[in-house]
Amino acid sequence: MKLDKYIKTACLLLPFCVVSCDTNKGNDKDAEMNKFVSDLMSKMTLEEKIGQSTLISSWWDVTGPVSNNDYAHKAKDGHVGGFFNALTCDFLYRLQKEVVENSRLGIPLMFGYDVIHGYKTTFPTPLAMSSSWDMEMVELAARSMAEEAAADGLHWAFAPMVDIARDPRWGRVAEGAGEDTFLGSEIARAQVRGIQGENFADTATLIACVKHFAAYGAPVGGRDYNSVDMSERQLREFYLPPYKAAVDEGCQTVMCAFNDINGVPATTNKWLMTDVLRDEWGFDGMIVTDYTGIFELTNHKTVRDSADAGAQAIRAGVDMDMQSAIFMNYSKENYEKGLISMEDIDRACRNVLNMKYKLGLFEDPYRYCDTMRAKRVLKHPKFFKASHEVAKRSIVLLKNDNEVLPISKNTKTIALIGPMATNKRNHLGTWHTAGREETVTPIYEAFLKEFPDSRIIVEDGCWYEGDDRSKFAKAVAAVRQADVVVMCMGEQEFESGEAASKTDIRLAKIQRDLIDEVAKVNKPMVLLLHNGRPMVLTDEEKKFDAILEVWHLGSMAGPAIADVVSGDHNPSGKLTMSFPRSVGQIPVYYNYLNTGRPENVNVRFTSRYLDSPNSPLYPFGYGLSYTSFSYSNIELDKDSMTKDGVIKATVKVTNTGKRDGDEVVQMYIGDQVASVSRPLKELKGFKKVNIPAGKTVDVTFEITDELLKFYNADMVRDSEPGDFDLYIGGSSQTGNKTVFTLK
Ligand code: GLC
Repeated sequence: MKLDKYIKTACLLLPFCVVSCDTNKGNDKDAEMNKFVSDLMSKMTLEEKIGQSTLISSWWDVTGPVSNNDYAHKAKDGHVGGFFNALTCDFLYRLQKEVVENSRLGIPLMFGYDVIHGYKTTFPTPLAMSSSWDMEMVELAARSMAEEAAADGLHWAFAPMVDIARDPRWGRVAEGAGEDTFLGSEIARAQVRGIQGENFADTATLIACVKHFAAYGAPVGGRDYNSVDMSERQLREFYLPPYKAAVDEGCQTVMCAFNDINGVPATTNKWLMTDVLRDEWGFDGMIVTDYTGIFELTNHKTVRDSADAGAQAIRAGVDMDMQSAIFMNYSKENYEKGLISMEDIDRACRNVLNMKYKLGLFEDPYRYCDTMRAKRVLKHPKFFKASHEVAKRSIVLLKNDNEVLPISKNTKTIALIGPMATNKRNHLGTWHTAGREETVTPIYEAFLKEFPDSRIIVEDGCWYEGDDRSKFAKAVAAVRQADVVVMCMGEQEFESGEAASKTDIRLAKIQRDLIDEVAKVNKPMVLLLHNGRPMVLTDEEKKFDAILEVWHLGSMAGPAIADVVSGDHNPSGKLTMSFPRSVGQIPVYYNYLNTGRPENVNVRFTSRYLDSPNSPLYPFGYGLSYTSFSYSNIELDKDSMTKDGVIKATVKVTNTGKRDGDEVVQMYIGDQVASVSRPLKELKGFKKVNIPAGKTVDVTFEITDELLKFYNADMVRDSEPGDFDLYIGGSSQTGNKTVFTLK
């Protein structure tokens, strides 16, 4: 489609259009885009402008409670701006052609999809990937999934999800980067870089969509969609920075969250979407609601009816209405009643058209639809190789007593027990969308290859849930023949993700019973834990010699796990979310405030539980290796600095074991005294370094004033002079500490 078509049409239709005097706040570099979009809007009718703000799900997939796809026919009238959950070049080409050739102005559609951790090739779930602490791997995964999805005709990924979460009862922790703001912000940047690449017009990239704005990860009770209630300080200090990091990295779209924040639904939260996101952070992209978010305002009881919902949402800053079709049905009436302005409508329309312009769709609406390219690119071996590399690095070794791991390839008999031993589908994890189980290499198959000289006996023993113990005996019999037992247990893919909150985050009873029966045989026991969320492993910790957190690792789960179990790959993952000792501890996280009565188990009147330590079973930043690392004391190039200064902090990290290994060296800083109470420590830097056996490397961090800033008593983000505790080690529980001063 050439631009001249639009210019020709303009002359014919100019008298029919109401043109807002508004011009995009864009800057010089978007001058050409602004001019093109302004020209295009000058010939659009009110209905056509409203149409651009409508996003409808195709009937191919359902990712929410209602699927009112009967509006799809309106696309031909130019009254729909985009579709989501629609796939393949062929289908998208036909849908695009239908609209471009039949609607009055031929404005192309944009196509979105939940490309969260892979497309046809599935990568580890985002929480798993975050455990790699490897930004190159995170970016590689995002790059790969974007290239594959773009090859299937898609333009827009509803990712990254960057919701900070401290409550593993919430199933969507699986989609995020865990509990820490600093790490979550770095991961958000890497994901945006991977998805969007350097140039939006590159048909091997997608436009990203940071979500869910904001603080969706802090629902009361860990129950999905529930209210979020927190101070502005908590919101700005811990929950907003990863969204801002994505915006600063150039993320083009933002998706509103379902929840209310302090009683104001995110979908109509002007303070969030306009005052903070656009005015404070300078975001000039497009804001889309979540699935039927506008329709659900009636349930929030903050609107009189759907018309009121649509008016409040567009006035607050929403540009595109996902799946409610409320803008489509009520914006004209709201405008005619003076409840919304032409500026509101124009702003929303323009922000959507800007995305289409940046995607190059006005030049050629079919530019992403190339079936020959799709055949070449989809499920390309390079994506499986990438997924394998990312998966290996996402595995966390939680326990390894008596060096039961790695399992020698000379082992005579290995028993693989548990429902995950042969399963494929559940390795895909939540939100695997276009991923299919056919792409998954299961554990059993991978073990046969990894341990060619061993006898592998496999018994699932039980299903993930239920109370069928009929296969226990066979499993126990297999264990009796084995030299070592590897139990493959955990959650099914739908037990985490959206609408998957739980009150009990232990393994299902049937699985715990099977473990108890197997443990009675008294063989060396290894647990492979497949889960979307942190789980309570307090019992399992006592029953297994070794525990590997292997998450839901995607298409290459089997080979990645086999590499680690055999020692071909030395595990290097670290937890990015605390594992509680019991659900009663939740929320438990590492960057807590000290309180006036910090825990002292020997003193009654202190902040503690009668039946449990405050500490989690496995803390943030924790993960073991098949080797070991020692840290020297921290050397500072100076022990004080002014606001414009820099302190260099160096540790010598020695690999004291017999195998090469990667270590995630973590730097934490704690403000000793401040105008508000501050966490005892917060992650302010990390470096993943490879250290050959027996060698020592220097790892240096630069401490700047920026790392010391926080929202002070006046809610101004600044640093305050004084002494700071500095920790550098291999976990948030490191005691390797020194002090420096900000003058
Ligand atoms: C869902 C999710 C959101 C997703 C959207 C489209 O309900 O909350 O993350 O992108 O709908 O499928």
